[in-house]
Amino acid sequence: MIVKNICCIGAGYVGGPTMAVIAKNNPHLKITIVDINQARIDAWNDADVSKLPIYEPGLAEIVQETRGKNLFFSTDIDAAIDESEMIFISVNTPTKTYGKGKGMAADLKYIELCARNIAAVAKTDKIVVEKSTLPVRTAEAIKSILHNTGNEINFHILSNPEFLAEGTAVQDLLNPDRVLIGGESEAAIEALAKVYNSWVPEEKILRTNLWSSELSKLTANAFLAQRVSSINAISEICELTGANVNEVAKAIGMDSRIGSKFLQASIGFGGSCFQKDILNLVYIARSYNLNEVADYWEQVIIMNDHQKRRFSDRLIKTLYNTVSGKKIGMLGWAFKKDTNDTRESAAIYVADHLLNEQANLSVYDPKVSSFKIQSDLNYLNTRSEEENEASVKTESSPYEALKAAHAVAIMTEWDEFKTYDWEKIYSHMKKPAFIFDGRNILDKAAMQKIGFEYYSIGQ
Ligand code: UDX
Ligand code: ADP
Repeated sequence: MIVKNICCIGAGYVGGPTMAVIAKNNPHLKITIVDINQARIDAWNDADVSKLPIYEPGLAEIVQETRGKNLFFSTDIDAAIDESEMIFISVNTPTKTYGKGKGMAADLKYIELCARNIAAVAKTDKIVVEKSTLPVRTAEAIKSILHNTGNEINFHILSNPEFLAEGTAVQDLLNPDRVLIGGESEAAIEALAKVYNSWVPEEKILRTNLWSSELSKLTANAFLAQRVSSINAISEICELTGANVNEVAKAIGMDSRIGSKFLQASIGFGGSCFQKDILNLVYIARSYNLNEVADYWEQVIIMNDHQKRRFSDRLIKTLYNTVSGKKIGMLGWAFKKDTNDTRESAAIYVADHLLNEQANLSVYDPKVSSFKIQSDLNYLNTRSEEENEASVKTESSPYEALKAAHAVAIMTEWDEFKTYDWEKIYSHMKKPAFIFDGRNILDKAAMQKIGFEYYSIGQ
């Protein structure tokens, strides 16, 4: 199977960086990323690469290098499907907010629309690659839609889950631990392997059946999220016993069977994947009546929700049991550093709890806009848009956000937070001045020396 043109449907946090790296390493291939969202495509095409719709270190440079040469962004989905031999589906698959499986199952309507679109437009054989994280057996649904179009075209479905983490997407793509390709047609699998082979060593490219590939993605995310919930569970014990969670994490992480990564206690994990994928796993398990399996994984999310709630409860309790009318400065809104993505960010839920207690919030994040912060809160539907607007201000300077605040709540581990003039911040805050470090990034002794009452996770 000869591939010259590749199309990717969905110009988001996964499709954008992945295709940019494929384009960079395959100058002979023409890659077109399409999306229904015109504003998003316009932003990808903006001459000023600092205005790309997503922020990822190193991405702007690659887009600059490849865009207009062999990487293109367009809203003409049909034309791109028509000319491509290989089509990646990289659209969003949020958790359902309605009907059967509400709050648990993945909403596959965007995937189905893509499959129908491909079926309607294709005139030649296509390799269709699922890139979005999907419940196991989605490939089957895509196959069924594509094969029931009544024409003579051959469609080969591959599952090629993406393991990049936001904030390090470019590095993860350039140097992946592995590339996973699941499928039934050997020729299609090899056609995709060839695209990756131009920069990924052969021994890192795994071939499996479709279902193993789909399930591996959910399992990888479930295991990673479980580690975060596990260390967060221990952090609560630490706060009561005098143990220090950082010391515990280091001590257990040096056991090579456990490993040192993903043991950073925090206000709880966020991001578009962990919760959604575990909910998917739980939903699948329940639908097979595997209730013990479902309960087991569900506990990872219950622990994560508890950790977010515990953080805001502790803040309120420490501020003499009331934050009503008090200014709380929040540093960070993104779900982790080095991204402008806020999906499922713990900051949203902590803010919501504090707003329920009538706090006034003042937020600073280096990459997240006021518009995004307001829409994240409005999406929860806890209070009116006017109320959110009145009680949540976004500042473009951290010093302004913290001026006259009763407390600082650190939500994201942005490196720049460590470099601030904390003495100056202290001098402009209400006394006693509190820091609630939800990421354990500041130096406790140094903060206490300045005069702060310093609280962190698991200490
Ligand atoms: C995750 C997976 O890592 C990636 O392989 C998959 O493709 C998509 O989902 P992502 O959500 O982008 O990536 O970021 P990740 O680095 O995994 O962090 C997820 C959340 O866990 C963040 O909120 C992060 O702050 C939190 N986290 C991570 C911790 O609280 N402690 C840790 O030790 C690690
Ligand atoms: P991810 O993190 O999985 O990349 P994003 O939400 O960042 O998710 O990106 C998904 C993109 O897919 C969005 O830009 C959305 O507009 C696009 N999209 C969703 N449905 C379709 C569709 N049917 N055709 C084209 N693009 C779509």
